[in-house]
Amino acid sequence: MRTRIIGTGSCLPETVVTNDDLSKIMDTSDEWISSRTGIRERRLVKEETTASMSIKASMRAMENAGVSADEIDLIIVATITGDYVTPSTSCEIQAAIGADRAVAFDINAACSGFMFALHIADAYFKSGIYKTALILGAETLSRIMDWNDRSTCVLFGDGAGAAVVRADETGLLAYDQGSDGARGKVLACRNRKNNNPLVKKPMDMEYTSMDGQEVYKFAVTTVPSSIKRVLDEAGLKVEDIDYFALHQANIRIIQSVAKRLKVSEDKFPTSLDHCGNISAASVPILLDEMNRNGLLKPGMKIVLSGFGGGLTWGSAVLEW
Ligand code: UT7
Repeated sequence: MRTRIIGTGSCLPETVVTNDDLSKIMDTSDEWISSRTGIRERRLVKEETTASMSIKASMRAMENAGVSADEIDLIIVATITGDYVTPSTSCEIQAAIGADRAVAFDINAACSGFMFALHIADAYFKSGIYKTALILGAETLSRIMDWNDRSTCVLFGDGAGAAVVRADETGLLAYDQGSDGARGKVLACRNRKNNNPLVKKPMDMEYTSMDGQEVYKFAVTTVPSSIKRVLDEAGLKVEDIDYFALHQANIRIIQSVAKRLKVSEDKFPTSLDHCGNISAASVPILLDEMNRNGLLKPGMKIVLSGFGGGLTWGSAVLEW
């Protein structure tokens, strides 16, 4: 039994914000952002929410898979920016799409979240508990950015990506994941502070902070090793892989991974230029773009890899 992706969908907010738009409201430039990151524009929410984008992405993925709501056993949303602490975004999706039989819950593994969700679905399938799942990465990161901190806010965007996965004869061939909580503070966003009657402190808003260079070093060393481990486990070589769909954090990270693996950058499709970094949503949105652009053919071997906050990472090799 293997876990196969049988449909993909995504949803981006309507409003495009270019680097030039940002340079009008803060001390930055298209030159700085695009040369250091590869990002040219991102979409930011106005009326859209994490749930509303997730619902659209889910419906597109189900349509692409030819799967109806009553076939879904499990919904997992990877997010750090759900609209509510409770109910979960996955429960909101369940209600909206009418997947009454499904069990629904959210997970938090930051930028690796979609990869972790894929592995959870795979474990449920292997144990025989469930057969069909809807898995998503969805974020409205613009809500947790400090818009006075140019070193972080220019990097991130909003959006949702979904995939329908099913127990099948082919699909996920190997998986690798890990966490390094000891280095977690290099990319952090604190939750609400204690404001109970014992302390009575005013509530500060908390925003995302990042030591970009530490995250960069983590990514360029951890991702190639993780990819090599999944390839070894699957008995494949880098030459056997048609595409490497990586978390979209920075074009220089992607170039460095390509170089370390000795693979042409052409095998690393990107959505970074028009999406920015959308944490857990990056990998499924990129996969949906690849799918809808006709890049993915049955039998192709694809590597997926997510990495970031936690710190966490997860890579998979699958047959399309
Ligand atoms: O999802 C995973 C999460 N994140 C990542 O993977 C991010 C990984 N890290 C990176 O991509 C890079 O470290 C960044 C793109 C975030 C930063 O690039 P950098 O080359 O490490 O820049 P830096 O932080 O060392 O800053 C260099 C300069 C500083 O000025 P001084 O001190 O040299 O005068 C910053 O103040 O660039 C300045 N700077 C900016 N200038 C214009 C920082 N942000 C901006 C900005 N516009 N937006």
